[in-house]
Amino acid sequence: MKKIVVAIDGLSSCGKSTMAKELAQYAGYIYVDTGAMYRALALFGIRNGWITPDAINGEALEKQLDRVHITLKNMDKGLQHVYLGDEDVTADIRTLAVGDAASRVSTLKFVRRELVRQQQLMGREKGVVMDGRDIGTVVFPQAELKVFVTATPEVRAMRRFEELKAKGQTTDFQTVLADVCARDERDSRREESPLRQADDAWLLDTSNLTREQQRTILFDKFDARLQAFL
Ligand code: DC
Repeated sequence: MKKIVVAIDGLSSCGKSTMAKELAQYAGYIYVDTGAMYRALALFGIRNGWITPDAINGEALEKQLDRVHITLKNMDKGLQHVYLGDEDVTADIRTLAVGDAASRVSTLKFVRRELVRQQQLMGREKGVVMDGRDIGTVVFPQAELKVFVTATPEVRAMRRFEELKAKGQTTDFQTVLADVCARDERDSRREESPLRQADDAWLLDTSNLTREQQRTILFDKFDARLQAFL
């Protein structure tokens, strides 16, 4: 059976990770959450004191980059665990502070060069669903299926807010909305691989779609695309 590469890009909290995970399960492909890799690196920087809320010590981080070993392990039921060395950091990387640090660290050229290299290795055999910001434009510009997912900032902030609440993290909606908007701004305006829709990507706006609808639309698209490559 021929396998393809599926690149799913989009703004934060637009539902792309859930869709990518479900599609990977449906297709029997490997799921790669590239945002988790930037988050794990950010956590490493925070723990070592090289990333603070105000600054990043890029020099120290670059020197230590080969000490960072990030692994994504696909578990049962489409779950993915993220490891920093031997430590399972799956939960630790999901805080607002780490998300913010990840967004800042992902603007650094040497960081992108290294993580893109690792992502290209992960997908070289195809049969992957990779989600991120630059998958269809930089990591796999030849991906057979490229999806660009969007939703309004309010819808995305509400999803994020509900997620954080469910995890017991106390915050208020306005803070999450401000954070979502700040991240949009940074992800879209940075010099290195800014988030943008690839010319040949299919646009999927999830603002008014249920999860079930998102899933159905995406699976249909995948099946049609796969047929075209058989
Ligand atoms: O998708 P996420 O929120 O987990 O991603 C965390 C940060 O990492 C986000 O602010 C942007 C950055 N990122 C990136 O620059 N390139 C990617 N391919 C994935 C994420």
